[in-house]
Amino acid sequence: MTDFKRYLITAALPYANGPIHIGHLAGCYLPADIYVRYQRAKKTDIKFICGTDEHGVAITIKAMKEGITPREVVDKYYPMIRDSFDQMGISFDIFSRTSKPVHHETARAFFKKLYDDGQFEERETEQFYDTEKKLFLADRYIIGTCPVCGNKNAYGDQCENCGSSLSPDELIDPRSALSDSKPVKKKTTHWFFSLQKFEPWLKEWINSKKDIWKNNVYGQCKSWLDNGLQSRSMTRDGEWGIKVPLPNAEGKVLYVWFDAPIGYISATKELLPDDWETYWKSEDTRLIHFIGKDNIVFHCIIFPAMLKAHGGFVLADNVPANEFLNIESDKVSTSRNWAVWVHEYLKDFPGQQDVLRYVLCANMPENKDNDFTWKDFQDRNNNELVAILGNFVNRTMVLMHKLTSGKVPFFHPELSDEKDKAIVTSLQENKRKIENALDNFHFRDALSALMDVAREGNKYMQERAPWLLSKTPEMLAAHQKEIDNCIHVCLQLTANLAIMSNPFLPFTARKICHMLKVVDRMLDWENAGSMHLVKPGYSLRPPELLFPKVDDVQVKAQIEKLEAGAANRKTQQRASNEKTDVSAEPVSKATGVGGHSRPLDSLIEDLKPALSDLKPEIEFDDFSKLDLRVGKIIAAEKVEKADKLLKLTIDIGLEKRTVVSGIAQHYKPEEIIGKYVTLVANLKPRKMRGIESNGMILMAENAGKLVFVSALNEISPGSTVR
Ligand code: MF3
Ligand code: ZN
Repeated sequence: MTDFKRYLITAALPYANGPIHIGHLAGCYLPADIYVRYQRAKKTDIKFICGTDEHGVAITIKAMKEGITPREVVDKYYPMIRDSFDQMGISFDIFSRTSKPVHHETARAFFKKLYDDGQFEERETEQFYDTEKKLFLADRYIIGTCPVCGNKNAYGDQCENCGSSLSPDELIDPRSALSDSKPVKKKTTHWFFSLQKFEPWLKEWINSKKDIWKNNVYGQCKSWLDNGLQSRSMTRDGEWGIKVPLPNAEGKVLYVWFDAPIGYISATKELLPDDWETYWKSEDTRLIHFIGKDNIVFHCIIFPAMLKAHGGFVLADNVPANEFLNIESDKVSTSRNWAVWVHEYLKDFPGQQDVLRYVLCANMPENKDNDFTWKDFQDRNNNELVAILGNFVNRTMVLMHKLTSGKVPFFHPELSDEKDKAIVTSLQENKRKIENALDNFHFRDALSALMDVAREGNKYMQERAPWLLSKTPEMLAAHQKEIDNCIHVCLQLTANLAIMSNPFLPFTARKICHMLKVVDRMLDWENAGSMHLVKPGYSLRPPELLFPKVDDVQVKAQIEKLEAGAANRKTQQRASNEKTDVSAEPVSKATGVGGHSRPLDSLIEDLKPALSDLKPEIEFDDFSKLDLRVGKIIAAEKVEKADKLLKLTIDIGLEKRTVVSGIAQHYKPEEIIGKYVTLVANLKPRKMRGIESNGMILMAENAGKLVFVSALNEISPGSTVR
């Protein structure tokens, strides 16, 4: 194994197209920060690199949606993202942006070198093009009917209903996710990087990581390699991005996944103009990429192949990717607003950054997707941070002020016993556990060993029970030395807790240092395990509250906020979907935006309500094709296993109709019997959950509530509506 002299740590560059949520933190930035803080405390030469990813379709589309330029989008989100990280204590050495000139130059030079070395193949292809938005469409932006299962909203690369992977050509009735228009095929030229040339080398390299990388990471790489690699186009048509550095490449920019990882290099250059090459070009640099699982192929296959093709760069030693964090058992979806935004957390829980860091670390999705719930947040704060860690530190400080006149008491070795020995042994064991766990990216285990230090401290104090020995001044005088010993040990443990919690809970560590009147330098990891950290005779500051309790009211407010945000989005979406078919089951997709965002999916959701607000003009003839009738609901029941659907029986005079309607979340069956409705009576029958629906009823949306569109005065069923 190489003896590494310096560490280079990167965290995935977040797209500057929205604020960050706690899934981002748990998936990538928090583990990276814990690791870096730990290494810094060990005096490792280490640089922690990040910045925003500011190119690509994700940004372009956000701009379209908000009606501003891509530049305005990234200028809006860059400071928000930077400040959220900063306030959460994510301690990057640099947080740059891929729109900076140094990055454009670096990425262009990189491309040019590969080009000159013959690594690209220029190829003309046909691609789908949105004539309305004047854009070539990535596969994800083409929607149509799945040839396998009939899902009407399958994506051009995959059907999320049946899981089939598709190509846009296979979709029936393809349409653009951006404009809903029918895309046309158009010729375009691009530069393809021959990934397959690197296949033998990649196989060997990835294989050498088999026992080193996490299973989820190695597994994904292996399956990519087993499926065979293909050339990938490293350029795109468009204006927003880094111009392709070739003549005759007007209107072509670098593919965002080509330029973004080079952003790690550019940001290092910006940080260390004279020394960046030492970090990137020496064999004894340990390069580690922290990412979410949706980024694995780019960091483990494509970027390494690019670096290899270029030559001279170190390759990743490890890529400890995390899985996704769900919220209250549901996938994070930025477009449904099912997310906990970091900037909002900071507002709602001022000064409580470490609580979030703690809870996210305790639930870190290291090996599988995991869940964040506000109840768990409350429980972990109240039962762990408050009751174990906060309690130990607080009791130690209070007792010291009460029983040893606010000073660090001397330790009297002649009174020392097995308990004192045992507590030191357990402290050192836990220290080793933390080291071992962190060295192997097992952040949850490391955190639990940290809490064990506080647990053991509480046990020790409880057994000594100095309060029982000091009930009267006489007793206190008689037992002063024993009491001194107990408090001395507890204060040394408190100092150790500062050192060991520092990577995880940096704000808390500093508060403890302040109370103990020690300088930050005490936090150096080499001090961990020592029982000589605070000096006898020194007077210390009064205790500060480390963790306030989180009460039920706060939890309830957060859950309501989450649900209200999501409900708003849902009704907007439902209303827009149901303009075309009220009786259809509302489309409610939770796309896989998780620990690390996959904005592409969510953007499609984002766009739908906006774009369908106004439909194109129609002729009167089109309108008169509708047969609208007054109907009366005479029976209603829930549809089994469909929480959104009601089966209605509607009297329209001459006949009774069965209609399946997506209103179950708005109305109970019993409360709508007898209601008058407007029915589209000549809609082609459609089967839903095995029930044939004959028509649909019109609904209007009012402040999140769906109401029936019906004649004000009751009118006989069957009357026409014109
Ligand atoms: N912006 C990408 C995402 O959010 C991550 C880019 S990582 C980099 O999924 F390596 F390309 F920078
Ligand atoms: Zn399908």
